[in-house]
Amino acid sequence: MIQEVFKNQFGYTPELSFQAPGRVNLIGEHTDYNQGFVLPMAIEQTTKVSISKNNDQIFRIFSKNTDELVQASAPLAEIDLSTWAKYPLAVIQLLEIGDQGLDIAISSEVPIGAGLSSSAALECSVASAVNELLGLGKTNKELAFLCQKAENTVIGAPTGNMDQLASLFAEKDKAVFIDCQTNDLQLVELGFDQAGLELMVIDTRTSHDLADGDYGNRRNECFSAAQHLGVSSLRQMSIKDLDGIDSLLSEIEFKRVRHVVYENARVLEAVQAINERDFQTLGRLLLLSHKSMRDDFEISTPELDEAVEVAMNSSALGARMTGGGFGGSAIALVKTENKQSVTEAIYKAFEAKGFKTPDIFNVIASAGAHQLQEQA
Ligand code: GLA
Repeated sequence: MIQEVFKNQFGYTPELSFQAPGRVNLIGEHTDYNQGFVLPMAIEQTTKVSISKNNDQIFRIFSKNTDELVQASAPLAEIDLSTWAKYPLAVIQLLEIGDQGLDIAISSEVPIGAGLSSSAALECSVASAVNELLGLGKTNKELAFLCQKAENTVIGAPTGNMDQLASLFAEKDKAVFIDCQTNDLQLVELGFDQAGLELMVIDTRTSHDLADGDYGNRRNECFSAAQHLGVSSLRQMSIKDLDGIDSLLSEIEFKRVRHVVYENARVLEAVQAINERDFQTLGRLLLLSHKSMRDDFEISTPELDEAVEVAMNSSALGARMTGGGFGGSAIALVKTENKQSVTEAIYKAFEAKGFKTPDIFNVIASAGAHQLQEQA
């Protein structure tokens, strides 16, 4: 219980508690910052936060995961970017709460660096909790953009806004279809359970840091391609527009554009397939998405490719890497009765290749950020 963690650390009962989930993205990768379409869902694993005001003009932030207390004086001047506390502190800084001190306890179940948006879960749980505690009156969309800004401007990871919107707006059993041009959201009932399907995550346990340059390079390639094409974003491009544009772009830029354009089309097809309960088609789209990320966007890794290939060879309907890439996790859509055999096949294949033992677990579409009931 997060309230207990808070009480043990600070010696009194917190004023309120929130939780926010991590996410997997079903399809629509590297499309968010290109104003395109994405289809993430929240997972059961969440970050929980208990919080209270203090009168000491100080932020005391305790993490149960690292058993560490980080302190900073209010108002915040510079943020130390070397610890996990940079995420809550960056959010607090942008919420502009001046010299109001806070005591915060945090505990997270979202695996870190696995491409499951542990940082968005942390940002969104803290942002929601502070917003409620201090009555700041910000909407969830405002909080999502603020958390994205914290990533971009304070942390230095030039991400889009998919993860934060998913963490704040998701609902149980539903995916969140987001048009990143208008930021309109629609919930899509998944129906995996009723169809006897499960979504597995294969965390390859290989590193994934969105601030380390590769992610930003892809983003820059997309932006420069859009500039060469004379469009405000790659969202303006359709599949038929791809004909004849290769002369305007470098070979690399053309491949990046091709990925984004087809990926946007695949998201729309995926939403339709889910609505029609056509999970064979959904599976096919997941695999096409993976191939596009492997060959055109070039963000996959040997571990992710292996996870996808083995899942497909052992009866998955579809599989793909999920998230920013360069490591992290793959997802596989499997019939419940085949879950065990797919899992075993992946463990075996990873061992044979000398890869790190992956973490394999299934995820269910879960609720977005919300306040936790008071402790009984
Ligand atoms: C990371 C970013 C998102 C998105 C994905 C790739 O998760 O945080 O904004 O760009 O990568 O789809």
